[in-house]
Amino acid sequence: MGKKIFSGVQPTGNLHLGNYLGAIKNFVELSNDQENECVFCVVDLHAITVKQDPQVLRNNIRETVATFIASGIDPKKNIIFNQSKVSAHSEAAWIFSCVARMGWLNRMTQFKEKAGKDKEKASIGLFSYPVLMAADILLYDATHVPVGDDQKQHLELCRDIGQKFNNDFEVENFFKIPEPLIQKQFSRIMSLKDGTKKMSKSELSDLSRINLTDLKEDIVNKIKKAKTDTLPMPNTNEELDNRPEAKNLIGIYSSVSNVNLDETIAKFSGKNFSEFKEDLSQVLVDKIIPISNEIKKLKKDNIFLDKILKDGCDKANEIASKKMKKIHEIVGF
Ligand code: AMP
Ligand code: TRP
Repeated sequence: MGKKIFSGVQPTGNLHLGNYLGAIKNFVELSNDQENECVFCVVDLHAITVKQDPQVLRNNIRETVATFIASGIDPKKNIIFNQSKVSAHSEAAWIFSCVARMGWLNRMTQFKEKAGKDKEKASIGLFSYPVLMAADILLYDATHVPVGDDQKQHLELCRDIGQKFNNDFEVENFFKIPEPLIQKQFSRIMSLKDGTKKMSKSELSDLSRINLTDLKEDIVNKIKKAKTDTLPMPNTNEELDNRPEAKNLIGIYSSVSNVNLDETIAKFSGKNFSEFKEDLSQVLVDKIIPISNEIKKLKKDNIFLDKILKDGCDKANEIASKKMKKIHEIVGF
């Protein structure tokens, strides 16, 4: 049987290799299976949990759509839309904020990381962020949610909220309890400058990440400068245990070229890092440059991108508003 897929990406710029390998690559594969129904959301309401410049946000929403399409998601067969235009998301988030418990949210590690030392100054939205994420997923009866490893805890919270609503209102199976789809390997791509930190949009140094809009020379330069250690290329998987940078680069090679880790290790064993890095740059250039070129081409056509969002919003609204109507009845509005 086909799956109902829902996932979201924040339009906060600098979409990178971690987003691609951890999430978008998986979206494309799932959307190529004719049996699946897929909804991909540009989560602009999530983006404003931290301050955004309106003009930059507008641009990033379109760039995220362009990235989806350039990566291989067909907008005719899949729903692509932005969250703010389907008001059921905000509404369901409020209702779920009355279902979720403070204790559950207090355990969320992403909030702790993002809020940093000064939690008093973080927005309330940043704290309740996972409640809105639950609304996104549950409104569409999604059965499977492809995400990177960092979203695992939020998915568990979503399942808890769906389950509690079903129990509290005695509506068994009203909300489908979704399964996360997290790749077993390479679900967490690390910074090129520090193998213990996640590759991230917000890291100040651009050398820490490969952006999906990078030019060939950027990719080659970033891989050349990527941190490694002084040991030779490993001969076995176990040798990677205490070598986070080497592990990350070999993982990236494997994921981009679709070969398993052992094969990659065998291929480069005994060689030196510079040789490996040359090959890694090449597979990255072959994968990323066509996407990068396509993003740039699509970005010139705002009318086209806006039309995709408009069509997607119409379809998403139809699904979400029906579910919302039932939620109203159940809650007693
Ligand atoms: P975001 O940009 O935070 O909206 O993330 C979009 C998707 O990319 C989510 O499914 C994340 O889990 C995934 N993602 C973000 N950073 C990484 C990373 N460094 N490695 C793997 N997946 C990631
Ligand atoms: N929180 C996710 C992230 O930062 C983005 C997101 C929002 C999402 N709503 C979602 C992902 C629903 C999957 C399903 O990456």
